[in-house]
Amino acid sequence: MRNFNYKNDTEIIFGKNTEEKIGKEIKKYTNKILLHYGGGSIKSSGLYDKVISYLKNENIEIVELSGVKPNPRLSLVKEGIEICRKNNIDFILAVGGGSVIDSAKAIAAGVNYDGDVWDLFIDTSINHPCLNVATILTIPAAGSETSSGCVITNEDGWYKRSTGHPSLRPVFSIMNPELTFTLPKYQTSCGISDMIAHILERYFTNEKHVDLTDRLCEGTLKAIIENALRLNIDPNDYNARAEIMLSGMIAHNNSLSMGRIGDWATHDIEHELSGIYDIAHGAGLSILFPAWMKYVYKHDLNRFAQFANRVFNIDININNLEETSLKGIEALENFFTDMDLPTRLSHVDIDDNRIEEMSKKLVAYCDHVGNFVEIREKEALEIFKLAL
Ligand code: NZQ
Ligand code: ZN
Repeated sequence: MRNFNYKNDTEIIFGKNTEEKIGKEIKKYTNKILLHYGGGSIKSSGLYDKVISYLKNENIEIVELSGVKPNPRLSLVKEGIEICRKNNIDFILAVGGGSVIDSAKAIAAGVNYDGDVWDLFIDTSINHPCLNVATILTIPAAGSETSSGCVITNEDGWYKRSTGHPSLRPVFSIMNPELTFTLPKYQTSCGISDMIAHILERYFTNEKHVDLTDRLCEGTLKAIIENALRLNIDPNDYNARAEIMLSGMIAHNNSLSMGRIGDWATHDIEHELSGIYDIAHGAGLSILFPAWMKYVYKHDLNRFAQFANRVFNIDININNLEETSLKGIEALENFFTDMDLPTRLSHVDIDDNRIEEMSKKLVAYCDHVGNFVEIREKEALEIFKLAL
């Protein structure tokens, strides 16, 4: 097991009606905020009106910036930075999913940075103070509600890149599972695919003696799968929604990374896909994760067989670990199919036209992606081919 530091300062305010606390919680930090949100789901669900009234009850001054798109764009981030500078705002409330939260984080990182905020996504060492961000989460998926990460798409070339800094962890996140009842089935499933991917990125490690975090990963995966299937039957099952919301946070708050180095190649490859084709991140992952697994499984048959056995209850064939490994990958694909998620590029009408371009862009700023197995242009192309 590797040495590690672990610190996660985000306060979690979890459960029914917790959004009612937003005014009082914000008041502990400030009297003025940028309220940041997306394309309208919070208005149709009624959450927007509630949040405004809870904030007004506490006399909090609100400046609004809406219009965050899934796969959030750099241009809106720049707009947000200007608004915060002009209005002396040092606190951003993000109401929405990973896209809204990441857009808020990028604004928070950019306000006190003299250069172009995109610099922070190329050279990812942020070393200046960021504004405070708080969230009301409406879709469990990206884990951005407690993560230090932030992913933005630059429309100039459609580069989707991430950055991260401990000070980008939200100061608090309100997580009411009831707010996720309005999610369309597809978005629920995409979120589930994303949180599964966050665990798998950590699970496939070259580190030995990580028994505890292996078991925590496997247990979280099992809880997600069981409760996802419950939501297939009843999307208004509060307890299943709560388990999924909690899992999405655990999957990405780095507690499952303690003592180990994860892989992350599939996320980097997926960012090329959603950067260019603007598909949901979770859909890109349900296509690419099985493809990546098929490409790398021989690197550690024991680990892949363990995954098959402990997560999908597949008997280990001690004389043929390859067979067990492939059954595990197939079981994951079948689960994604049960969730109505795509598992091939053709399922989202993407052909092989731009796979060379995406493979090149993947390593435009780095030597390789991935730690479990190093992936360069040539290997990425093979993974895209397996996903066609
Ligand atoms: O824009 P609105 O109208 O709010 O609609 C959203 C959006 O269309 C809708 N939605 C959200 N909550 C809803 C709802 N619709 C009905 N009822 C609700 N309660 O869902 C759509 C998707 O929202 P989005 O925020 O894009 O989803 P998600 O949370 O999956 O975020 C995806 C983004 O997060 C990044 C992804 O790359 C992608 O850009 N990630 C961020 C990470 C991080 N910061 O740590 C890590 C992840 O690996 C990921 O890369
Ligand atoms: Zn993700």
